[in-house]
Amino acid sequence: MPTSAAELRPAPPDSPTGAPALLNRDSAEAYRELMAEVAQRIAERFARVDRPWTGITPAELAPAVDAVDLDRPLPGFGDALDEIGDLYLRDAVWFHHPRYLAHLNCPVALPAVAAETVLASVNTSVDTWDQSAGGTFIERRLIEWTAGRIGFGADADGVFTSGGTQSNLHALLLARDEAVETVVKNSETTLRGVEVLPRLRLFASPHSHFSVVKAARLLGLGEDAVVTVPADDRFRMHPGALDAALETCRGEGLVPAGVIATAGTTDFGSIDPLGAIAEVCEAHRVWFHVDAAYGCGLLVSRRRRSLVEGIERADSVTVDYHKSFYQPVSSSAVLVRERSALRHVTHHADYLNPAEALFPNQVDKSLQTTRRLDALKLWMTLRVLGPEALGSMFDRVCELAAETWAHLEADPRFETAAPASQLSTVLFRLKGGGDDVQRLAREAIAAAGEGMVAATRVDGRAALKLTLLNPETTLGDIVSVLDALARHGAKFQGA
Ligand SMILES: Cc1ncc(COP(=O)(O)O)c(C=O)c1O
Repeated sequence: MPTSAAELRPAPPDSPTGAPALLNRDSAEAYRELMAEVAQRIAERFARVDRPWTGITPAELAPAVDAVDLDRPLPGFGDALDEIGDLYLRDAVWFHHPRYLAHLNCPVALPAVAAETVLASVNTSVDTWDQSAGGTFIERRLIEWTAGRIGFGADADGVFTSGGTQSNLHALLLARDEAVETVVKNSETTLRGVEVLPRLRLFASPHSHFSVVKAARLLGLGEDAVVTVPADDRFRMHPGALDAALETCRGEGLVPAGVIATAGTTDFGSIDPLGAIAEVCEAHRVWFHVDAAYGCGLLVSRRRRSLVEGIERADSVTVDYHKSFYQPVSSSAVLVRERSALRHVTHHADYLNPAEALFPNQVDKSLQTTRRLDALKLWMTLRVLGPEALGSMFDRVCELAAETWAHLEADPRFETAAPASQLSTVLFRLKGGGDDVQRLAREAIAAAGEGMVAATRVDGRAALKLTLLNPETTLGDIVSVLDALARHGAKFQGA
């Protein structure tokens, strides 16, 4: 006779090799062993990483992945770990390596990595209170904390998202719906919201992130709805030009729905003049969005906070903790000055968050339903390291970018391709080399494991780009990458 409910439960289907299938009370010991094994292997792997990347080619790697028979499991966990060691870890791109200088990827804060394990193990979904409990309040506190750093008042709110692309989409959806609502309300004829869409326009500088144009497309406005506002020679939006563009827009019977200022452009690290742009937006009564995906680290910087002065006048802000707050992907948020704007994404479903629910349901504010408790990572980071440590790390890479720029100016093998950045990018070229030489030299250093740099175009010409986010990178590391570039570049120039 069974004596407890547990004994009535059928055993879960473990794998043919006896490995527990699910994480539960019975597999707690297996969990402990597995995590210890994973931690051991990752620690060993990190200790052995001596270059940012092996430079493996797709042709070399693809056959090994293709050869895996996904219908036939391996004998055990250890074999599966060996397999991902070969297929993934051996040739991974290591953002923590001091000579990884390419894209907007950061080394990750250790407490956040620990939190990642916690949140994946518990598997909280932070969409409703009844699926997340404390997770709901952790996320809310962090939104409140970030809003405080921005300088928003008590009516602010927001929600975590999957990244800057989603945060921008979310913010621009709110901007669109606010604009539509206003036009419909003020219209003398009966107008449907959808009829207003073709008249809506968004305004951004040529250096804003491509997710703005993508958002316009997704929001049914079309890419042409994004009006390009000229920037100055330091890649910052011109407030006077914005004013004129808004004026023209209204003059043509169109509707300005939102202005997107960038606090840290992806290529140049330039920060649009937020205070002056806020002024223009307020005068024209247009939604003001600040994309601070990159520059959000300034919110915790002691020395550079003033660069984002005026951000508190925005209607919405994008922050990417997975860029300048040293968080593992994904970790981002969209914040609004007035929480009522979030009503545009609220939908009440009987099964989930009925309108009469008295519980704090984060899904009411989000584009997503099931959603990771990414907030736990930032929480752990702040509780262990504190905000100042993050701010100092970001300050350090900004200083390093300035030192690198000065070094390049003095090095006859190179020319800078843009003025010194306000943040941590550096643009340059191998002097005398055409577009092909820049590309080949970049590919050659990556293939040789000597370093990784990014590429972009400035004034129609290929340029090399460093994006510095690792505070442990030294000028010496960067000089060694530059030397390798010059060495390979000389080879290709002669060819
Ligand atoms: C300024 C800016 N905004 C938005 C994004 C998009 O962020 P995510 O890659 O997190 O979607 C980026 C990415 O580099 C960015 O630089």
